Amino acid sequence: MITEKIRSVFLQTFGESPLLCHSPGRINLIGEHTDYNGGYVMPAAIDKKMVVGIASNDGNQGRIHSIDFDEDFTFDLSSFSPKKGHWGTYIMGVVAQFQQAGYPVKGFDMVFGGDIPVGAGLSSSAALECAVGFALSELFHFEIPQRSLIHYAQKAEHVFAGVQCGIMDQFASVMGKKDHVIRLDCRSLDYRHFPLVLPHHSILLIDTQVKHSLADSAYNQRRLECQEGVIAAQKINPEIQSLRDMDLGILASIQHEVSDIVFNRCKYIIEENERVLTASTLLDNNDLEGFGEKMYGSHEGLSKLYEVSCDELDFLVDFTKDLPYVLGSRMMGGGFGGCTINIVEKENVPSLQQEIETAFESKFGVNPKFYEVSLEDGTGLV
Ligand code: GLA
Repeated sequence: MITEKIRSVFLQTFGESPLLCHSPGRINLIGEHTDYNGGYVMPAAIDKKMVVGIASNDGNQGRIHSIDFDEDFTFDLSSFSPKKGHWGTYIMGVVAQFQQAGYPVKGFDMVFGGDIPVGAGLSSSAALECAVGFALSELFHFEIPQRSLIHYAQKAEHVFAGVQCGIMDQFASVMGKKDHVIRLDCRSLDYRHFPLVLPHHSILLIDTQVKHSLADSAYNQRRLECQEGVIAAQKINPEIQSLRDMDLGILASIQHEVSDIVFNRCKYIIEENERVLTASTLLDNNDLEGFGEKMYGSHEGLSKLYEVSCDELDFLVDFTKDLPYVLGSRMMGGGFGGCTINIVEKENVPSLQQEIETAFESKFGVNPKFYEVSLEDGTGLV
């Protein structure tokens, strides 16, 4: 549907038919905030995506129309800079990375839109970056390998959007595979696709509708706190490069060197890495209940030790704890709002939604949103 809309708006606006590419949003089953600590994550691409229509023009400008914002944006390819808070920043960020790597981006026209809710923690910005990067690569025959595309998209986020994100979102968007999750080692970028077909369960996202304005600065702050832990540990063992190389024993030995906050951040990351590894064994053994328990463990750590949850997210996770038909629940993504991810018996999804809606509304005065998602392929041509 969105694809048809983009095709027709493109035709109306630029008078020709575009090349159409798409890149999905992502979920993450377990392994949160571990990516920028050289650790493990378990994301998957989903059936919500960003679609980009593109064609070359004869000028030296990027001329872009956003369907969702119903706005135009034009920039000169030889002179541009980030526009904080504006969607054009993500597109310019990717162009800047390509140019820096020596790819001659020429004038292009673009129309884009999608159905990934913004600010819900489903990585709409990564999906946009990856879709734009892929579209430019196809249009101008750059033949950029997937790994490089992922890196350029991540760098766009660092340099232009100012968020020191890890690699999980862009990796999942590009490398997603239908009915599979990805277990990714964020240091080596080794990965494995694990089949995840759930005959009796749904993956249900519950969106708090909370968008925390401090999320970006708190995110960068967490990164620095983790780094402090690593620096303290390096005094004992210079081979330690990241929290990935630490265990709770090493952490205990630097406890007196670091603040309680830094200690807690490190403890969470070390435990979360362990949880992802155990969770993938559980998945291999088809032990969904065990897997669900790890999800609750992850949330507990994110909330109490890493402190990136919020009342609304905690409420949603607590609500499901004693329900036998919910296997696991936790906050997902950067935190401070966005969604929880839940594994719920299919037949109970409608009643759960109703119960949560009533309880959440009466506590917070807001209606949460619900998305049942399926796992899909990553970036490609439409
Ligand atoms: C955001 C970042 C990711 C990752 C998650 C938390 O989505 O973009 O790199 O750090 O938060 O796991």
